[in-house]
Amino acid sequence: MIRSPIMTVMTDAVMKAARSLKRDFGEVENLQVSRKGPGDFVSAADRRAEQILRDALVKARPGYGLVMEETGVVEGTDKSHRWHIDPLDGTTNFLHGLPQFAISVGLEREGQIVAGVIYNPVLDEMFVAEKGKGAYLNNRRIRVAARREMVDALVVCGLPHLGRGNHPQFLKELTVVMAAAGGLRRLGSAALDLAFVACGRTDAYWERDLNSWDLAAGLVILREAGAFVSDADGGPDPLAAGSVACGNETLHRELLKLLRHANR
Ligand code: IPD
Ligand code: CA
Ligand code: CA
Repeated sequence: MIRSPIMTVMTDAVMKAARSLKRDFGEVENLQVSRKGPGDFVSAADRRAEQILRDALVKARPGYGLVMEETGVVEGTDKSHRWHIDPLDGTTNFLHGLPQFAISVGLEREGQIVAGVIYNPVLDEMFVAEKGKGAYLNNRRIRVAARREMVDALVVCGLPHLGRGNHPQFLKELTVVMAAAGGLRRLGSAALDLAFVACGRTDAYWERDLNSWDLAAGLVILREAGAFVSDADGGPDPLAAGSVACGNETLHRELLKLLRHANR
């Protein structure tokens, strides 16, 4: 585990919000059977978790700016630091009682993501990294998988949502990657998709139309775990492009080749 003041601030804030999210997740199961469903309740749970994160982070670092999924951007007096916060990544899973969701908090310093925390409260899995200090899952150091052949690789993707993203482009990419990869998954939480590549559970991942709060924490965790990361077209800045492709050096290269081929 990383013991630094900033990591303590981040993990404390995340654990506090996680208690609220986990309680609400328990309620969601009861609401499934109601005719209205748990939709409004989940939106409230999402906002509650964001408020807890915001309060804790502002209390600990009053000057830092915030980029939050629910509340939007809040400028700070300290222009060199910003939090990127997704209080509930994997909302659809949460809504359906599937325990694949997480809180994601990344810290940007001078335009670079320098620390990240991704936490799944149901499995009690905490992925953390700080630039130059390695990446960890709970107390264990993590590394990207060493698999080198696409035919052996478990690849994760993100499907564009109804009314969002470029569906024809995605279908072309899916067709090409599906024909080359050992297996393909859509797990439903971009933050955990990044974290899973970092710890070697999956081998590669790509997705388009993502936001900074989906990506920030995962990017530093991936890099500290030895992964290669770019945007989905091979560009150097996933945050600016709003897309990502990652894996170990070989599979990242292979995945980009496939995506390029699909978009020819
Ligand atoms: C979504 C999830 C999903 C991804 C979407 C994201 P949300 O975030 O990360 O896996 O495919 O693009 O918007 O809405 O659950 O926070
Ligand atoms: Ca969210
Ligand atoms: Ca998200």
